[in-house]
Amino acid sequence: MFKGVLFDLDGVITDTAEYHYQAWKKLGAEIGITIDRKFNEQLKGVSRDDSLTRMLEYGGKSTEFTPQQFVELAARKNKNYVEMIQKVSPNDVYPGILELLENLKQAGIKISLASASKNGPFLLKQMRLTNYFDGIADPAKVQAGKPAPDIFIEAAKIVGLTPHECIGIEDAQAGITAIKASGALPIGVGKPEQLGHDIALVASTKELTLEFLDDCWKKQ
Ligand code: G6P
Ligand code: MG
Repeated sequence: MFKGVLFDLDGVITDTAEYHYQAWKKLGAEIGITIDRKFNEQLKGVSRDDSLTRMLEYGGKSTEFTPQQFVELAARKNKNYVEMIQKVSPNDVYPGILELLENLKQAGIKISLASASKNGPFLLKQMRLTNYFDGIADPAKVQAGKPAPDIFIEAAKIVGLTPHECIGIEDAQAGITAIKASGALPIGVGKPEQLGHDIALVASTKELTLEFLDDCWKKQ
């Protein structure tokens, strides 16, 4: 049996991946870069600064902003995003997630957060989920963001485990790559076209039961 589950947050625990997209789209429109959902797949799971770098490259504007302006743009996106998430509540937790957290707790399986978001702790609080988590990896402390494995390694470490003892759950391409590189077993929330044909996938978080996780673990 696996000993821990390393959770991504945005797009796995709740629909904040959509708010990130809306906030990047708004910033893009302000600086003359139009992004769509297809391009957004490349931003999912990626840190704030790395996302901005990718968006400026995509819009052919990598050299248009000074380092100070870059910082200002990232802060502006975050300000928009933080406004959007003020109303997040326990009602916004994705289906099946609360049951999964409760069943994991009862089974004595460690629960750790492996989100790149600096807004993660605030969101867990808003959804009243903080107490379920044995650990919350601090994205400011890890050297490289997803697709590097660092945040998953850290999330396992802070609950006294190695990634090889854990399952990682992700909705992003960068996140699945990170889980694979860490040595944890990936489960994707989403479509094979985005996340690959070589891993266990669910179309909805409703399918993320303890039994399903256990099956995936036994089949690996
Ligand atoms: C998550 C999201 C990304 C976001 C990143 C940083 O990984 O999937 O879309 O860019 O966190 O979030 P933050 O709230 O710190 O800007
Ligand atoms: Mg995500």
